[in-house]
Amino acid sequence: MLPPGLPLPKVASTVMWMRKPFAMLDTCAERFGEPFTLRLIGLPPIVMTYTPEVVKEVFADDGATFAAGKFNKSLAPLLGDKSVLMLDGAEHLRHRRLLLPPFHGERMQRYGAAMLDATDHAIDGWSPGSVISLHPHMQDVTLRVILRTIFGFEAGPRFDEMMRRTKRTLELAAWPPLLLPFMQVDLGPLSPWGKFKRAKAHGDAYLFEQIAERRSTGARGADVLSLLLDARDEEGNPMTDEELRDELTTLLVAGHETTATALAWAVRWTLATPGLVFGVREEIKAALRADGTTQLSATRAAELPLVDAICREALRLNPVIPLVGRILERPTRVAGYDLPEGTPVACSIYLAQRRPQVYPDPKRFDPSRFIGKKFAPSELFPFGGGVRRCIGMSFALYEMRIVLARLLERTNLTLAGTTPVREVRRSITLMPSEGLLVKVAA
Ligand code: HEM
Repeated sequence: MLPPGLPLPKVASTVMWMRKPFAMLDTCAERFGEPFTLRLIGLPPIVMTYTPEVVKEVFADDGATFAAGKFNKSLAPLLGDKSVLMLDGAEHLRHRRLLLPPFHGERMQRYGAAMLDATDHAIDGWSPGSVISLHPHMQDVTLRVILRTIFGFEAGPRFDEMMRRTKRTLELAAWPPLLLPFMQVDLGPLSPWGKFKRAKAHGDAYLFEQIAERRSTGARGADVLSLLLDARDEEGNPMTDEELRDELTTLLVAGHETTATALAWAVRWTLATPGLVFGVREEIKAALRADGTTQLSATRAAELPLVDAICREALRLNPVIPLVGRILERPTRVAGYDLPEGTPVACSIYLAQRRPQVYPDPKRFDPSRFIGKKFAPSELFPFGGGVRRCIGMSFALYEMRIVLARLLERTNLTLAGTTPVREVRRSITLMPSEGLLVKVAA
């Protein structure tokens, strides 16, 4: 027997999940406590949990019981079957080990200047007095950074072409109903899935060109593609072109869309919380005084405690991805229920991060929760956990701090929307409505 769930027809439940996921999770948690079951069209019932004990159990598993790759399959048409997100077991670990190093430590810090440049490039295009939707600008910033990280591209025609093709595919993939298996039917070039498939093929062709060129010239740099081209498995075999394409696509997509959305939420909460912009500006001024400079360096921006706390609190209150999922590889007892093999089990990031026992007054945006404090990985997991924890976690937090600090250092923004900001689904991510409208000071 499965845990209780809303007594709605699957269609109504699916529409609610697509349109108001947070409200739906709140309703279920209030009515049923933990766990509960989500029933969506075209998918098996999903058992939703969020208490730290269960989350801990899921994250402690090495993948033998809770398989993430199988749960992530709805993303395969976008990312490819050979993406690290789709893999399980030994193959998953092999790809993960390869992809992790460029996104950590010193290698990651080399991109600090590129992060500042990309932010300046966006700000320079804003006219004083104008109202802009911030999310697309944040996407531009994070896409520029990830393109440089993955391919080593500097500005130029190649860079622009890759930006264009990536954006086009993502815009088409962002429409939430396309996540549902029965919507994934190609009814010609004008149908939603048909358009997406053609844009994806167009993007893939360009990626294959880059791979072929690098293979033929043997050119290598400090970028991720160089690293992947030189990687060998235990038998000494290199990655195939398809494997490379899928991992590059995964890093391109996972590596910019999420960070851009998290930044939009961080800006939203900073502007909506009295005194916070002033607090950050004071923090920046003190850093500049200490360094005897007139502009923040990337290293300094990444070290500002209040900016860091704002980023973490925004990811707590508005997790970009509301849940992480696994499929049971064997019959397992989860949160008091004996569940059969094949059951999807999800940990709700959203509900776990709003537990009043851990976060008093949980709906309040309060960065001071994070000043000098840490939370357990089962109580705070905007980047998932265990052997599947996000590869780009350090990179994303580093980039968020730098971009947010630069925005607040150089601009004077105010919220400009006339209706309250709410979460809107873009594929599996949840962004602020209207992309967050802000006014740039005259
Ligand atoms: C604020 C930004 C980001 C958020 C909120 C985020 C969130 C997540 C989440 C929730 C997962 C699933 C973890 C799980 O199943 O337990 C994940 C996985 C992943 N993320 Fe991120 N991510 C972000 C940025 C990035 C960046 C910058 C990159 C690449 C540079 C990246 C690459 C990946 C990859 C490759 C995986 C798959 C890991 C695996 O299956 O082993 N993400 N991310």
